[in-house]
Amino acid sequence: MNPVVLSAPTIPLPSDQDSSGRTLGEEEIELLAQAIRTGTLTSTKGQFVKTLEERFAQQLGVSSVHACSSGTAALHTAIAAIDPEPGDEIVTSGITDMGALTPILYQGAIPVFADVDPKTYNITAKAIERCLSPRTKAIIVTHLFGNPCEMDEIMALARSRGIPVIEDCAQSFLTEYDGRYVGTIGDIGCFSLQQGKHITCGEGGLVATNNRALARRMFLFINKAWGYGDTKPDHYFLALNYRMSELQGAVMVAQLPKLEGVVRARIEAADQLTRQLRDLPGIETPTIYSKATHTYWKYCLRVDPNLVPGGSPALGKLLKEKGIASMPRYIQKPAFQCEIFQKRRTFGRSEFPFTLARPEALNYDPSLFPGTFEALDRVLVLPWNERYTEEHVNYLGTSTCEALARLRGEA
Ligand SMILES: Cc1ncc(COP(=O)(O)O)c(C=O)c1O
Repeated sequence: MNPVVLSAPTIPLPSDQDSSGRTLGEEEIELLAQAIRTGTLTSTKGQFVKTLEERFAQQLGVSSVHACSSGTAALHTAIAAIDPEPGDEIVTSGITDMGALTPILYQGAIPVFADVDPKTYNITAKAIERCLSPRTKAIIVTHLFGNPCEMDEIMALARSRGIPVIEDCAQSFLTEYDGRYVGTIGDIGCFSLQQGKHITCGEGGLVATNNRALARRMFLFINKAWGYGDTKPDHYFLALNYRMSELQGAVMVAQLPKLEGVVRARIEAADQLTRQLRDLPGIETPTIYSKATHTYWKYCLRVDPNLVPGGSPALGKLLKEKGIASMPRYIQKPAFQCEIFQKRRTFGRSEFPFTLARPEALNYDPSLFPGTFEALDRVLVLPWNERYTEEHVNYLGTSTCEALARLRGEA
């Protein structure tokens, strides 16, 4: 059979990996130059990181935000603030970035995986409930791709059991659920400022909370647990240097006022694509819970392999010929199928902390995760960007329609 070839020409899309799809500009250069001129590049003495923390706290409406060196560091800081005992369990998702899971192991706790809703790719209260045990110390919900989890149900469950909730908002800036920003609904919100996120300084993270005790522990954890400002400071507990530098802080102070516009542009472009694709047989546009707004870190299509021959991988392959770098599956396999979990590669040959886990907590049998496997089998992640014009979105839409027609043998 001849390979299917789509018609030329291709339209290049702005990319979040370079200036074509980033909002970095003169404002960032100006503040960065100011930071360098001060000669003070550490956040323990400078003003930029402090300003970023104050302004993001104000924007979210929380009492405190602390900046750190990555989204991974933000998650680690949140978990360390909750302070699990070795072998305690933290319920989370198998569809996430590894940087949201390794901090659990570094704190000596056990990630316990809840299944996801295959339509939203997010964990649900029902699936979390099945994973709870007397050892559950926290729940981490990931608002994947910018689409919120069903927070009413999750918070009701968590509050009824007295379990703190960490919201992983690495992909979900200014995302709302029932009129509140995600990251302010649970006990701690964690954000990533890595290159491809809504706003960026290359690498960076933020933690947000309304809880003073958690805020204090997070500040300390980012600062080697040194009691800056105390009358008799000491290193109070085991902690790391996860500080953000003033150089990153300066870039972020310039990025922050652009966030609302970035989010608005991403939503408008996504709405245009949804209008174009929503009635096509064999694909589903994003499913969003009734109280939620999606802020589109990425735009995902769900492809039904029974109606679209070859499913998501075949559609992704045809889009690639049109210069569209989509990601079938998002991650190639659920996190619990990676070697770190399968072979328990942690500290030397100790297998710590897996050695402390209940056997049920380490049951990764695929039959327990039907939603997770269906989600990965069907998802096609389209690249998304605030710089998309109507023409770019139309190109994405028509390329998708054309590819679907070809896969169905209609064109
Ligand atoms: C959902 C999620 N959590 C955590 C992280 C880790 O963030 P970082 O790459 O900034 O360490 C990422 C990825 O970047 C992510 O997408």
